[in-house]
Order: sequence, then C-alpha cells, then structure tokens
Amino acid sequence: MDGWFTLIVIGLAFGYGESNLNVVEFGAIGDGQTDDSEIFLEAWSTLCEGGGNSSTLLIPAGKSFLLKPLTFKGPCNSTAMAIQIEGNIVAPKNFSNGTGCESGRWLNFLKVKGLTIKGKGQINGSGRVWWNRTATHQFNNNSLYFERCDNLQLDGFTSIDSPKMHITVDNSTNISISNLHLNAPENSPNTDGIDISDSSQVNIQNTFIGTGDDCIAIKKGSSYINITHVACGPGHGISIGSLGKGVNDTVEEVHVRNCSFNGSTNGARIKTFKGGSGYARAITFEHITLSMTKFPIIIDQEYNSSMYDANKTATAVKVSDVTFRNFRGTSATLEAIKLVCSDVECINIVIDNVNITSAVAGKNVTSSCKNARGIANATVPPVSCLIDN
Ligand SMILES: *[C@@H]1O[C@H](CO)[C@@H](O)[C@H](O)[C@H]1NC(C)=O
Ligand SMILES: *[C@@H]1O[C@H](CO)[C@@H](O)[C@H](O)[C@H]1NC(C)=O
Ligand SMILES: *[C@@H]1O[C@H](CO)[C@@H](O)[C@H](O)[C@H]1NC(C)=O
Ligand SMILES: *[C@@H]1O[C@H](CO)[C@@H](O)[C@H](O)[C@H]1NC(C)=O
Ligand SMILES: *[C@@H]1O[C@H](CO)[C@@H](O)[C@H](O)[C@H]1NC(C)=O
Ligand SMILES: *[C@@H]1O[C@H](CO)[C@@H](O)[C@H](O)[C@H]1NC(C)=O
Ligand SMILES: *[C@@H]1O[C@H](CO)[C@@H](O)[C@H](O)[C@H]1NC(C)=O
Ligand SMILES: *[C@@H]1O[C@H](CO)[C@@H](O)[C@H](O)[C@H]1NC(C)=O
Ligand SMILES: *[C@@H]1O[C@H](CO)[C@@H](O)[C@H](O)[C@H]1NC(C)=O
Ligand SMILES: *[C@@H]1O[C@H](CO)[C@@H](O)[C@H](O)[C@H]1NC(C)=O
Ligand SMILES: *[C@@H]1O[C@H](CO)[C@@H](O)[C@H](O)[C@H]1NC(C)=O
Ligand SMILES: *[C@@H]1O[C@H](CO)[C@@H](O)[C@H](O)[C@H]1NC(C)=O
Repeated sequence: MDGWFTLIVIGLAFGYGESNLNVVEFGAIGDGQTDDSEIFLEAWSTLCEGGGNSSTLLIPAGKSFLLKPLTFKGPCNSTAMAIQIEGNIVAPKNFSNGTGCESGRWLNFLKVKGLTIKGKGQINGSGRVWWNRTATHQFNNNSLYFERCDNLQLDGFTSIDSPKMHITVDNSTNISISNLHLNAPENSPNTDGIDISDSSQVNIQNTFIGTGDDCIAIKKGSSYINITHVACGPGHGISIGSLGKGVNDTVEEVHVRNCSFNGSTNGARIKTFKGGSGYARAITFEHITLSMTKFPIIIDQEYNSSMYDANKTATAVKVSDVTFRNFRGTSATLEAIKLVCSDVECINIVIDNVNITSAVAGKNVTSSCKNARGIANATVPPVSCLIDN
C-alpha cells in the first residue's frame, strides 16, 4: 500500500496524469534546419488517437521546428485536444514542387473537432521567398488552414510572413480566435490575416493584424460572426467578400465592434463582383477608430475592374441592412464614404453618428453613392446621396 501511495503522491506532485506530450520527446530536433515533419505527424497521431494519456501536445520554447507542408488529419478519438505552441515553427525557404506545396496549404488541419492551439510561440511562413517569385502567386501556401474543424480555439500565438493567407477557417462552426498577432509587410501579396468561408458562430477578438491584404475577409457561406477589438493596419481592412463569383454567395449577421484601422487601405468594406447572386445582409460596423485610412467606409459592387463585364448587370449579390455607426478619425483620401451599388440597389444602409475628417488639415472629405438606399444621421461628411428606403 505504501508503495502505491508514494507513487500516487509523486504522480500527482509531478502532474503525471496531466503531463504533456512533447514533440522533443518524440525526437524532434528543433534546430531550424532539420526537417521535423515526420516526428510532428507521429506526435499528432498519438494525440489524435488519445493513446498518450494527455490531451496536450507541447511545442517547447527555445527551439525552432522546420516543417514542410503537412496535414494534421482527424477525426480524432478525443474532441478536446490542445497544441501548446511556445517555440517557433518555420516553413522551409526552399519549398519546391514535390514537397507538398502544390496543396496551397502549409499547416493543414482537416476534420479535427475540439482543437485548441494556444501559447506564445511564433509560426513563420517564410513568405519572403515566395512573394516575389511568380506573377500569379498561385502556388503560394496558406500558413494555417482549418477545414471542417468545429469547436476550434486559437489563442495567443504569432504568425508572420505567410506566403499567402495567414489563417483560413473553412466549413467549420463554433470558432474562437483571440490574442493573436498576425504580421506581414504592407506590400506582400494576398497575405490576408484571417479568412472565413462557409463557417458560422465565429468570434474574433483582441487581435493585431498588420499585413498586405485584407486583415479579415468574410467570404461566402458565412454567418454569425463577431469581430471585436481588432487592430488592423497596414492592410486592406475588414471586408465582407469578395462575393459573387459563385452561385448564391451569402453572408449574414456579421458584427464588427470596437475595432481600429491604422494606415489601412480600407476600413469597413463590402466587395462584390458584377453579375453574381446571393446576399450580404445584417452587417454592422460600430465604434470604429480610424487613422489615415484610405477608404474608411466602402461598398463596392464593381469590385475588380479587370473582371468587369458591362453586360453583367441583370443580377448582383443583394446588399441590405448594413449599418455603419460611431466612426471617428481621419481619412487619407478625400473620399471617406463611398457606396457604389449595382443596378439591383443596396437597401437599408444606415450611416449614423459618423465623423470622419481629412488627414490633411483644411480639407473636407466627401461622400458618394450609386444606387444606395437608406438613411444618414448626424454624419460628417454629410451623406445626402442616399435614396430613401
Ligand atoms: C530544403 O532545405 C532543407 C534544410 O536546409 C533540406 O533538408 C531539404 O533537403 C531541402 N529540400 C529541397 C527539396 O531542396
Ligand atoms: C480510438 O478509436 C478507435 C476507433 O474508434 C479505437 O479502436 C481505439 O481503441 C481508440 N483508441 C484509444 C486510445 O482510445
Ligand atoms: C495510459 O494510461 C493507461 C491506464 O492508466 C496505462 O495503462 C497506459 O500505459 C498509459 N499509456 C501511456 C502511453 O502513458
Ligand atoms: C510546379 O508545378 C506546376 C504545376 O504542376 C508547374 O506549372 C510549374 O512550372 C512547376 N514549377 C517548377 C519550378 O517546377
Ligand atoms: C462542408 O462539409 C460537409 C461535410 O461535413 C460537406 O458535406 C459539404 O459539402 C461541405 N461544404 C462545402 C461548402 O464545402
Ligand atoms: C519584391 O522585390 C522588390 C525588388 O527587389 C522589392 O522592392 C520588394 O519589396 C519585394 N516585395 C516583397 C513583398 O518582398
Ligand atoms: C456575438 O455577439 C452577440 C451580442 O453580443 C452575442 O449574443 C452572440 O452570442 C455572439 N456570437 C458569437 C459567435 O460570439
Ligand atoms: C442560398 O443560400 C442560402 C443560405 O445557405 C439558402 O438559405 C437559400 O435557400 C439559397 N438560395 C438559393 C436560391 O439557392
Ligand atoms: C455584351 O453583349 C453584347 C450584345 O449582346 C455582345 O455583343 C457583347 O459581346 C457582350 N460583351 C461581353 C463582354 O460579353
Ligand atoms: C468631428 O471631429 C472633428 C475632429 O475631431 C471635430 O473638430 C468636429 O467638431 C467634429 N464634428 C462633429 C459634428 O462632431
Ligand atoms: C469645409 O466645410 C465647411 C463646413 O461645410 C466649410 O465652411 C468650409 O469652407 C469647407 N472647406 C473647404 C476647404 O472646402
Ligand atoms: C441621430 O443621432 C442623434 C445624435 O447622436 C441621436 O440622438 C439619434 O437617436 C439618432 N437618430 C437616429 C434615427 O438614429
């Protein structure tokens, strides 16, 4: 009895039952040079099969793990697993055909439910070797990709220099994203911070995003998205869209609150292609702080002029019930509010208590509309171009 008792006490004292799986104990080197991909997949299998008596996989601090494009595949036995990332994960600088880059996904999570990725570590996509390489960037990888990953939580870590989008969440529900730091240079192509598609019940908060494309893009099939306390800039703003490439592209119930745009190209944006179908509705942007934002409030239903087709006017993604409330700060261009709707018209656009001034002293900013219905209240610049609902 004594022996067992001692063992149990020691076990508890060292948190044995709770001890983490550790990639180093699986044999990962973490010198930034050795390819640790196989070891990570082995550690993932153990975590996923629930055979290690621990639901947490630790990626320890002070090391840098080189991983080529990998898929962490579910379904897993457990629906409550965590990856604790305290060290660095780096992508190879010599991605090439045959190393998996054709998938377009570097760290790909597929059909994993109830996963948490947390910690203070850094994920470095080595995007610098990609951004200038091809004209189309079609082989550039997204750093973190989550497809069919319900009940996902991402918290605390940093992602830098993604070859393409930093984080993509696709076809998933019940997602919490908080305290992340996503960063790539202003001139890096398509390096969106967070892209959401075909997903619902998403909460993004307390996150810094400075990048070369959309800070956040809410794409087709998404609904019930809250975005609060996100600081965006540089970047192309928080965007709904692009929508309208597919049939029946829909987005609804997106609520963006207490966010700031610092030196970004856009602030609150809805972008749709000509001739699409579907809708973007029940969208609010409120309590927004602007600093030198180029287009603080913009609806653009003629997005991407290179795809402009003058004949595509019969249909459009329908934009309705969109509110912009309590915006304060400065615009870097004189076109602070720009509502360019299709012939189908935007309905019930509310612009309320907005005060946007020019970043250039002595200049007045303006508003413009095309086919936009709604009301403006207590707004600088005045938006007299809205048609009554
Ligand atoms: C890429 O670089 C790594 C580390 O320097 C090396 O182990 C690997 O063989 C290289 N791969 C290719 C395809 O060149
Ligand atoms: C994981 O699930 C499989 C299939 O349901 C089962 O055979 C296996 O025993 C489970 N493993 C553990 C460690 O529970
Ligand atoms: C997990 O726990 C079970 C029961 O306590 C034990 O038999 C097994 O050896 C443990 N497995 C590992 C990998 O620690
Ligand atoms: C990589 O593969 C793609 C498509 O398979 C091909 O178009 C491209 O030329 C290849 N690039 C190199 C560097 O081999
Ligand atoms: C989403 O995943 C489900 C399976 O869970 C699949 O049936 C469906 O086609 C996927 N939807 C999209 C838009 O990819
Ligand atoms: C691409 O290369 C050009 C010229 O060398 C450089 O000025 C630019 O900053 C590079 N772009 C990125 C995103 O690294
Ligand atoms: C979004 O915010 C609303 C209002 O605060 C809340 O009722 C809802 O549950 C939130 N949704 C998510 C997915 O966090
Ligand atoms: C478009 O998609 C929405 C949301 O998924 C769905 O409710 C609606 O029935 C679809 N409409 C058409 C015409 O397919
Ligand atoms: C637009 O429609 C006209 C008349 O039907 C046709 O001649 C023209 O080719 C069309 N343009 C495009 C870009 O499809
Ligand atoms: C708008 O903001 C400017 C700069 O802060 C301020 O001077 C001006 O009084 C405000 N206008 C209104 C109507 O609140
Ligand atoms: C800016 O607008 C104010 C108020 O409408 C007006 O008094 C002022 O002359 C305008 N300034 C310029 C440079 O147009
Ligand atoms: C218009 O703004 C004023 C001043 O903030 C506010 O008291 C009023 O409720 C607003 N009216 C509408 C219809 O939103």
